[in-house]
Amino acid sequence: MQNEKTVCWINGKMVAPEDAVVSVFDHGLLYGDGVFEGIRYYNQKAFRLSEHLQRLRDSAMVLNINLRYSEAALGRAINELILESRQQQGYIRLIVTRGVGSLGIDPVTCQEPTVILIASPLSLLAADKRQQGIRVMLSGVRRIPVDVLDPRVKSLNYLNNVLAKMQANAAGMDEAIMLNASGNITEGSADNVFLVKNDMLLTPEVSSGALAGITRHLVICLARDHGIEVIESRLTPYDLYTSDECFLTGTGVELIPIAEIDGRKVNTCPGTMFRLIEAAFQKTIMEET
Ligand SMILES: Cc1ncc(COP(=O)(O)O)c(C=O)c1O
Repeated sequence: MQNEKTVCWINGKMVAPEDAVVSVFDHGLLYGDGVFEGIRYYNQKAFRLSEHLQRLRDSAMVLNINLRYSEAALGRAINELILESRQQQGYIRLIVTRGVGSLGIDPVTCQEPTVILIASPLSLLAADKRQQGIRVMLSGVRRIPVDVLDPRVKSLNYLNNVLAKMQANAAGMDEAIMLNASGNITEGSADNVFLVKNDMLLTPEVSSGALAGITRHLVICLARDHGIEVIESRLTPYDLYTSDECFLTGTGVELIPIAEIDGRKVNTCPGTMFRLIEAAFQKTIMEET
């Protein structure tokens, strides 16, 4: 929900939230034809910005959308927006749609991409959930197969994730974890999954059908820096149910421990490895912002 601290930028111009509107003929709206990024800023500095801009570029390349602005120009716009927000920390949504075109699906009718930036405070997860952990379920909604629409593309087509989140809401759960068509763990509706077994850190390989999360990558690096063995592999519900610890990672949730999966209590929550990596994660934020 927008509030007085929300600031927007569309196609190069800072606009008030109430004036931040796009055409009904924008193919982002008509067909979900576009890409996006969710970026955090701390201490008025965007965190891991170059990684986000690189992923946006990769997503746009797959869809053959021209970003219209260079990474440097987008970076400058983001910094301007952060200053304008007057907030020490918050969330930035960067969206690039195919642009305005005819009603038909054909992208060639779209002349120019629409580029949107929104900076807004994050509605943070309740502190008790952060400390005690969340309850998750394995969703009946299967992740879109990699050979249909590669989940590495952070596109405006998030219906798969929305359906999983709706299922979690209906079940009174905090989050839903999706499986792929072969029954392997992929990811949550907006986060990656990690589990700990025998002092090793495991996470589904991206090719199972997960976004190559920027927080995921950082967690893998931090764990390896601490001498922890990290394995990216095919994981099943069995692995999750029998894990010593598990947690989710994402720009929005940062790192959040899981206390319960499908009614089964996780061995330790938050576990020792979670605490170690979470501390290293917070240290990185302090150092980089
Ligand atoms: C489907 C999905 N998986 C994982 C993530 C976590 O990725 P990141 O750490 O880059 O925010 C997100 C959030 O962007 C997401 O939408």
